[in-house]
Amino acid sequence: MIILGIETSCDETGAALIKGSAPDKPVTLLSNSLATSLDLHAKTGGIIPEQAAREQLKVILPVIDDAIKDSTKDEIDAIAVTHGPGLIGSLLVGVETAKTLSYIWKKPLIPVNHLYGHIYANFIRDESEELPELPALALVVSGGHTDLVLMKNHSEVTVIGSTRDDAAGEAFDKIGRLIGLSYPAGAKIAKHAKNGNPEIFDLPRPMKHAENFDFSFSGLKTAAVNQVKKIETITDTIRDDLCAAVENAIVDVLVHKTVQAAKKFEVTSVLLGGGVAANEKLQKTLTNKANEVLPKTKIFVPSKNLCTDNAAMIAAAAFYKPNQKSLHEILVNPNLYY
Ligand code: KG4
Ligand code: ZN
Repeated sequence: MIILGIETSCDETGAALIKGSAPDKPVTLLSNSLATSLDLHAKTGGIIPEQAAREQLKVILPVIDDAIKDSTKDEIDAIAVTHGPGLIGSLLVGVETAKTLSYIWKKPLIPVNHLYGHIYANFIRDESEELPELPALALVVSGGHTDLVLMKNHSEVTVIGSTRDDAAGEAFDKIGRLIGLSYPAGAKIAKHAKNGNPEIFDLPRPMKHAENFDFSFSGLKTAAVNQVKKIETITDTIRDDLCAAVENAIVDVLVHKTVQAAKKFEVTSVLLGGGVAANEKLQKTLTNKANEVLPKTKIFVPSKNLCTDNAAMIAAAAFYKPNQKSLHEILVNPNLYY
């Protein structure tokens, strides 16, 4: 079956087509279209929700058109749309557009939780590739979430840990702002970190050894603020060193807790998802550590453009969790959780 996915939960507007054949096979990507208003938000230092929704209204139909350009609407079997969590105005743009298309085209509509989307990005692969085996542990690390999620099967899902304050992506973005890197700063910090010495700054690893799988990143941000305050001029070298130290601290905690949880729950696979999963240091450190201590566990990481927000992952989640609803039952929920 072919599913059209629509994603507008934050500042991106995405539409994508995926093709699925069987629940024990990967879904394949047919098209993946994305428009972003990031340039606008980089200027203001963050997202202005109303501005994001207005931009999305302008581009949603061209983006959908672009995603289905090589196919026809008759080939589409269902529509999937993010109904939360996210910014209410942005979510409404996607959900109301999807409802209208579902009504006019007479196609079923499947509401999808964006967080499951990040997890199911790992199920988009070439047809010949193996699917992640369950039980799996997912680390969802984005601008709004840092969650460790245990998936026994597609419907038995338990959150075993999450952040008590800032999300990992939020920590990257806030610390980046402090040293003059525009929003979103995660990928920029990663780039500067490549030239830096992580040992120059001594940053804490909050909750690394706590007896649970929760995270906390606001203390790390405060520690970075305090160290930066002492510096008169932030030179390129200082910026690189601080970026390396911040990246190291965040990756260290994420990897340690993920590996501990994977060990405890004896999972077959570990799935990375969310914008921060695009971080190469995180991918490499987790893979190396898992090879060392969990040789039987396979690590899955979506390709970079499927880590950050996209509509293909929303269509993929709908394929494995086909939770079709009638149009009047589908409502946006900015605070939706697992
Ligand atoms: O999943 P996502 O695109 O949107 C949300 O659902 O939040 O994640 C965005 C977050 C931002 O905080 C951004 O700074 C971070 O992902 N990010 C990264 C990298 N690429 C994006 N963080 C660290 N390293 C990266 N390479
Ligand atoms: Zn996201």
